[in-house]
Amino acid sequence: MKQRTLSGMQSSGRLHLGNYMGALVNWVRLQETHEAFFFIADWHALSTNYEDTSRLAEFTREMVVDWLAAGVDPERSVIFQQSRVPEHAVLHVLFSMITPLSWLERNPTYKDQQANIGDRDLTTYGFLGYPVLQAADILLYRPQQVPVGVDQLPHVELTREIARRFNHLYSDVFPIPQTPLTETPRLPGLDGRKMSKSYGNAVFLSDAPGERWDKIRTMVTDPQRVRRTDPGDPEVCPVYALHQAFSDSATCDEVAHGCRSASIGCIDCKKRLNVFLDNRFTPVHERRAEWTAAPERVEEVIIEGSRRAARVAAETLGKVYEAMKIPPFVGIGGGARPGKT
Ligand code: TRP
Ligand code: SF4
Repeated sequence: MKQRTLSGMQSSGRLHLGNYMGALVNWVRLQETHEAFFFIADWHALSTNYEDTSRLAEFTREMVVDWLAAGVDPERSVIFQQSRVPEHAVLHVLFSMITPLSWLERNPTYKDQQANIGDRDLTTYGFLGYPVLQAADILLYRPQQVPVGVDQLPHVELTREIARRFNHLYSDVFPIPQTPLTETPRLPGLDGRKMSKSYGNAVFLSDAPGERWDKIRTMVTDPQRVRRTDPGDPEVCPVYALHQAFSDSATCDEVAHGCRSASIGCIDCKKRLNVFLDNRFTPVHERRAEWTAAPERVEEVIIEGSRRAARVAAETLGKVYEAMKIPPFVGIGGGARPGKT
């Protein structure tokens, strides 16, 4: 029996190299050995973007195309969309009954985002309950692993707490999932801060090679290295952090040494990085072009994946209903009943 792995991303459109190294690389590897489920959390996207929903569908599509381009393979992995599997909402409401408010209020992401997203009213019920919905997303598939970036760890920890509480209150329905991390969980962006779409410092998977080079060429380096003849410190340079993520170790050693001794200039250092980026992302660009040319196939992947996901979700919900002594429901999705698929 293969172990099951599940992960997801809130739909927000194009993905960047940070998302790629932080999550997708791991997903592509895991699909070889695990029964893999990857989904678009489009309801979660509503928690901060509930006012304007006009681009939601587009964001979902763009993101799935990036996954496929990165090598997530619909033959191996179940790729699906949260909103197409309403069982997520059912489990969310049940979990909301057993989740103490204090668990949600102390969640660091909650406090952070409320402080940082100043232009929208986030004092909503859905925003506070974001991790409860995430717990439902995860536990509905009873995975052993949830591969996510470090920023998601508090959410998955809360998922474990909810699972333990459910198992304790009713019966042992949920395994407690682990969180494998990638080797490079955080990448710096062009300005040296964490790479993030909202900081405007990202290199996107969809950037054409020339566009990517323009960004790398003008990226910040060790700020102390003003002149070509000044020695630099690779440890404080975001370009070097990208070398460590993408270049081979001989190249890393050479540029680090060349930087410290001022025998290599920053442009040459960046050129060497760009060779590795080109090699890594050429196949990604090719796959991207194929999928972009066939939007109806992308749609098919999502629908077929959501059908497969719904079967597992209904099975888990059947166990949950039984554990909680709730009678099976009659309605959602043309009469499907939890546990009866
Ligand atoms: N919170 C995740 C993000 O910001 C998205 C997400 C929702 C998720 N539910 C999940 C990730 C379940 C992993 C597992 O991208
Ligand atoms: Fe950074 Fe490379 Fe310039 Fe050193 S040589 S400061 S590592 S870009």
